[in-house]
Amino acid sequence: MELISSITEMARITANWRNADLQVGLAPTMGYLHEGHLSLTNRAKMENDKVVASIFVNPLQFGPKEDFSRYPRDLEKDLMLLESAGVDAVFHPTSQEMYPENFNASVEVLGITDVLEGAQRPGHFKGVTTVVAKLFNIVSPHRAYFGQKDAQQVAVIKKMVRDLNFPLEIIICPTLREADGLAMSSRNVYLNADERKAATVLYHALATAKAAFENGSRQGNALRKIMDAVISSEPLAKTDYVSAANPENLREYDGLIPTGYGVLLSMAVRFGSTRLIDNFQL
Ligand code: PAF
Repeated sequence: MELISSITEMARITANWRNADLQVGLAPTMGYLHEGHLSLTNRAKMENDKVVASIFVNPLQFGPKEDFSRYPRDLEKDLMLLESAGVDAVFHPTSQEMYPENFNASVEVLGITDVLEGAQRPGHFKGVTTVVAKLFNIVSPHRAYFGQKDAQQVAVIKKMVRDLNFPLEIIICPTLREADGLAMSSRNVYLNADERKAATVLYHALATAKAAFENGSRQGNALRKIMDAVISSEPLAKTDYVSAANPENLREYDGLIPTGYGVLLSMAVRFGSTRLIDNFQL
């Protein structure tokens, strides 16, 4: 497995692969890898000849009061995991390499970035689309792999690829969960023992709303109320938002969810200074 920090070198390697008619898969990550990330590289391995994983904690997608500096990092362990997963190359650039002094461009998707996570984290998705566009241009993958855990990120990246004609396919992989239902996330490491127990409330809220939906509760308002009530029952949890929205345009369903339309149930919940998100798509 090669570890590459230079953009030119990364681009040269993948260009060689493409010239040799090899299919290339990319799994973009911010490191501190868990099984969810490895499910992306495993799927990429099944569907491509060569797999690149990127590890880059992207400063552009963190707000000034967010956890950029304390975001967990463990490069040595990440490299061991990726090596055993059979990844061919790891792209691990510095911030200086990605955003040199005169860097002055951005990629922004409008319309679906000012709700949910975007409403709570101004500028977050502009940071995500800018770095992901750069990674796509540097690595030129045939396929790129993202987790459904970040449902809005998935919708935003798909829209960027469609609107700007990036010549690649976006593959979404299911959320992996701990035995008690908590969605795997690098940020789970921030939780103390009590918060970790309390954090299963996201999964329970989603599961309760899903059961209600399947039993015929088809009102957006009612589903949000159900999720809110479950979260409120947990004293350590503070709701940022709960949502029952159209999965394509992320608009909230107020009244009846029309037959044949899906619904994205999603939420952000705080435990002390830790903010977790989760979702079910029905
Ligand atoms: O999902 C993430 O870890 C990040 O948002 C991504 C896609 C790697 C961009 O920095």
